[in-house]
Amino acid sequence: MTHAVDQQSAKDSASARLPLRPELAGEKPYGAPQLDVPVLLNVNENPYPPSEDVVATIAEEVARAARGMNRYPDREATALRQDLADYLEMETGVHLEHLDVWAANGSNEVMLHVLQAFGGPGRAALSFAPTYSMYPEYARDTHTSWVVGRREDDFTLDPAYAAETIRRVGPSVILLASPNNPTGTALPTATIEAVCEAALAVDIDGAHPVVVVDEAYAEFRRPGTPSAVALLAQYPNLAVTRTMSKAFAAAGARLGYLVASSAFVDALRIVRLPYHLSAITQAAAGAALRHRESLMAKVATLRAERDSTVAWLREQRLPDGLPFDVAETDANFVLFGTFGDRHAVWQGLLDRGVLIRETGPDGWLRVSIGTSAEMAAFRAALTEVLEEQA
Ligand SMILES: Cc1ncc(COP(=O)(O)O)c(C=O)c1O
Repeated sequence: MTHAVDQQSAKDSASARLPLRPELAGEKPYGAPQLDVPVLLNVNENPYPPSEDVVATIAEEVARAARGMNRYPDREATALRQDLADYLEMETGVHLEHLDVWAANGSNEVMLHVLQAFGGPGRAALSFAPTYSMYPEYARDTHTSWVVGRREDDFTLDPAYAAETIRRVGPSVILLASPNNPTGTALPTATIEAVCEAALAVDIDGAHPVVVVDEAYAEFRRPGTPSAVALLAQYPNLAVTRTMSKAFAAAGARLGYLVASSAFVDALRIVRLPYHLSAITQAAAGAALRHRESLMAKVATLRAERDSTVAWLREQRLPDGLPFDVAETDANFVLFGTFGDRHAVWQGLLDRGVLIRETGPDGWLRVSIGTSAEMAAFRAALTEVLEEQA
């Protein structure tokens, strides 16, 4: 009888002979640790599960979809795209129709469609770091070269520097997260305009680069913080992406979307797989959208919790007596530091049952905003860890 270990080593040596693309050699699948601990504050999820009302509507709509599951789903997801257009019109005041909206399995897939349509060999995608760590993976997976500029020390983006970088690099895709992950920084309208204007000066095969503003966390923005949706009419190469994973408490449903000109959306329709969005996903997302008002009430609670977490962190002292650095945030997370040994702080919190994220520039840690009980557990654990280190 072959021992399980022998089977494993046979499997390992077989996989060593697979013709993996050379640029994938040594790469690890993306993802934060999924650990079973009491307080999960590491992947910017919404801590409130959907209410029983929302669950009932989803169950009803999913049952209806299941009854027709012998057929492929609506390939164009027309009804869902119209629901998303209506929601975004309500949220931003900008008139939108389903032809201006694209939907896929999370904004991750939407962004992959963007790179499939507008990136590719001989082309570059540009962003400004620190930013969302999946962006280079979309570029890698579409044979697009990846170029990163920098953000300022306070994580803002200098418009003149951004414009100069765009003209110098000549990317076909420019990705800007606002509010940015992992820093929480939202971009002012003037910066996005400067980026869009600079893009108009770049020639890509007789056209101009596309600019994608990733607004995954937009619903958490503070009053007065703009959405780039307001700029869509002005710039036909601009797109804004959103997701139901955060504000809508539907990370498990996998539904992200993009809004842009219908020509932009048509380009994405070319590269999507047929029937990429299952009937079950379309039904669940449409049902959740019908409850947007009760779901948004939780967003207000999370915003208030975020602001009080920022205030509390600003009162804390590092082991050497200096105050914390706490980044301005318009998202449902806060980046704070800077610790001499951030891993020790992260581990100390984990030992106390609180999982946060070791991400961002050296010395910084990111905490997602949870329920008030979870944030109290975070504050208590961090206080203990800092006392231990003093
Ligand atoms: C900035 C940003 N964009 C996009 C996403 C992807 O979200 P999803 O694929 O769940 O829509 C995330 C997820 O954390 C994010 O932080």
